[in-house]
Amino acid sequence: DTVLVLNGPNLNLLGRRQPEIYGSATLADVEELCRTTAAEFGLRAECRQSNAEHVLIEAIHEFRVGTAGIVINAGAYTHTSVAILDALNTCEVPVIECHISNVHRREAFRHHSYISAAATAVLAGFGIHGYALAIRHLAHLRAGEG
Ligand code: DQA
Repeated sequence: DTVLVLNGPNLNLLGRRQPEIYGSATLADVEELCRTTAAEFGLRAECRQSNAEHVLIEAIHEFRVGTAGIVINAGAYTHTSVAILDALNTCEVPVIECHISNVHRREAFRHHSYISAAATAVLAGFGIHGYALAIRHLAHLRAGEG
């Protein structure tokens, strides 16, 4: 079974982008963590990143049924994109929204997420470990353990 780990705009620069907020781990480190964590639970992590909204939407369409779920960090599209919300609302699999930083202690414009309304669960402020927690939870859901 596959888990889609979908990272949005500017997350390709992880490790170099505002490390005081997002830490020093790179996107490659995040993807490695996701693959390792998924494998621990007998899952496979398919990791994608794009700065383009339509590419993120097309990835959601590709994985919306028949997978173990989607972990999405939509970056700034979290706070702007009804289109990504609509795409996530088509999903028949669980969706976990993940943010590296605690968006609620940052600027007011980061406090609202369009995509939370389509999310099974939301993580913020766990650093890159949030991705591992999200995958772990998808594995539990897959096993029917809630
Ligand atoms: C982010 C938080 C967003 O507000 C921001 O635009 C990002 C990253 C996070 O992972 O903390 O790009 O989603």
